[in-house]
Amino acid sequence: MQNINDVRNKLIAQVAVSDNPRDLLKVPEFKQLYSVISTLPVEQRGAYGKSINELKQALEAAILSREAELEDATVEMIDITAPWDVNTGQQNLLSTEQGTQHPLTLELELIVDIFTRMGFEAVESRQIDDDHHMFGSLNFPENHPARDNFDTFRTEEGFVSPAHTSTMQNRILIEGKAKLEAGGQIAAVSYGRVFRNEDLDATHEHTFYQYEGVFVSKDATLGQMLGTLRSFFEIYYDQKLKTKTQPAYFPFVEPGLEFAIERPAALNGKPGEWLEMLGCGMIHPNVLAAAGIDSTKYRGFAWGGGVERLAMLKYGIEDIRHFESGKLQFLRKFL
Ligand code: DAH
Repeated sequence: MQNINDVRNKLIAQVAVSDNPRDLLKVPEFKQLYSVISTLPVEQRGAYGKSINELKQALEAAILSREAELEDATVEMIDITAPWDVNTGQQNLLSTEQGTQHPLTLELELIVDIFTRMGFEAVESRQIDDDHHMFGSLNFPENHPARDNFDTFRTEEGFVSPAHTSTMQNRILIEGKAKLEAGGQIAAVSYGRVFRNEDLDATHEHTFYQYEGVFVSKDATLGQMLGTLRSFFEIYYDQKLKTKTQPAYFPFVEPGLEFAIERPAALNGKPGEWLEMLGCGMIHPNVLAAAGIDSTKYRGFAWGGGVERLAMLKYGIEDIRHFESGKLQFLRKFL
């Protein structure tokens, strides 16, 4: 019994300062106590065994309280909002680099800014729409093959992810109708993200950005449109440009054109190297009619082009897929 008391005093004192108090249950002095049992006279064994059990319980309790003490000591107060080395004392454990605007956001802001200074109202496009706005109101008859030029994603419910910002035209026309009737004009530029089920390569992305102009007045002309576009490109690239058009087919304009600029020498161009920048034309009477606008009284023009194409020429970017890649190496070039 004296032995049990000695072991108890010694182990409990050790538990109080141990880093691994549970290991003390395995020390030989403790184990030995059990082996003594079989050497005792039978009538003493009960009392002896009970004392060992009491010792074991006392030891368990001491271990638990020591473990709790150790755990408390390891929880340090940290500032979870601190950006870097406040908690650890280490330098630059996490980068403190600040985020920046995406290059396409910067270009869109510039584009919208140029057109709003010319008097166009900016309207953000939408990322989910319906067949009527994407096709029907734009003079694409049902099952018309022109729809095949727009590999449009659709939801099971029949909604579409717009494949062009022209999806906003009908809304712009309906909203502007009152202005026309009050003797004014419609001048709006819509911009935003569009989607196509494309095979991807250096010039094709499934997700990209467009900007689109709509202008309607009593006497809008193709000449006004060409002047507006030339001004836009010359401001955007900050230099004089040669431009040209060639016929193209889009159901929502008549005539329809492609508008090209000559790649300037400053942007590694050789004379005669033409780059097609956008589609445009005089708004088709059926498109005006779909918005309730009388095409015998009013005429308009519209254009739509890709933002990536503009920026790729300006910055010499060789692959459109960089824009959606999220790669910091690319994004840092636009800091
Ligand atoms: N929506 C056409 C496209 O994505 C571009 C376009 C062509 C827009 C002619 C227009 C237009 O507004 O008049 O290919």
